[in-house]
Amino acid sequence: MLAIIGGSGLSQFASLEVTQRQLVSTPYGEPSGTLTFGRVCGRPVVFLARHGDEHTIPPHQVNYRANIWALRECGAAAIVAVAAVGSIRADLRPGDLVIPHQIIDYTWARRSTFHEGSDSAVRHVDFTEPYDPGWRRKLGDAAVAIGLEVSDCAVYATTQGPRLETAAEINRLERDGSDVVGMTGMPEAVLARELAIPYAAINVVANYAAGRGDSRTGISMEAIHEVLKEAMQQVQAIIETMLTADD
Ligand code: HPA
Repeated sequence: MLAIIGGSGLSQFASLEVTQRQLVSTPYGEPSGTLTFGRVCGRPVVFLARHGDEHTIPPHQVNYRANIWALRECGAAAIVAVAAVGSIRADLRPGDLVIPHQIIDYTWARRSTFHEGSDSAVRHVDFTEPYDPGWRRKLGDAAVAIGLEVSDCAVYATTQGPRLETAAEINRLERDGSDVVGMTGMPEAVLARELAIPYAAINVVANYAAGRGDSRTGISMEAIHEVLKEAMQQVQAIIETMLTADD
């Protein structure tokens, strides 16, 4: 079963034929909201809204550990994470879709491992390639199959939020090699890795990052909402196509 984590602009998956909704608890507390089980194009899927069913949980307060643990417990074989991002690179425009291949973590004070506590042995996981190459390819192939362009190579910078960045911070992220910026990629990706769940992401460019493009003097939240509404339809079409690719 595929798990889909929906971000801003995707708090439910339109074509999901719901069979069951389940509120679960985990040793790490409550996930962001209800786990919604069902079928998309006949394939079993579980959906979770990262920011809660009513979009009330800010990025730094998402219980990433509970979310990933709950998805593993309910039998998720892989996770596709959907998230909005700002674009640092001039050629990535609002509305564009990105499948990132690398990630940089600028967050702080988030619970970012399952391996802590006095009764837990110290464990390190390999994270050279943070996103699963096989699932990245499946997403990319599905996009191509329905004629949608995606950028399948991008470095995602994870900032703490919930505020957006300053223009100087974006310049720094660019110097570090980042292409897009979002607030939720970490620790989500590494927690999936710790539980050995293949994890890939699809990002929607919601805006130019601070100081770039038409965000030179500020970022309009209304414009972001408009872009996300439109582009999330495409994200859902890609996932639907991917799920039926072996037919
Ligand atoms: N910065 C951080 N996160 C974001 C942005 C941004 O500009 N846009 C959408 N998510």
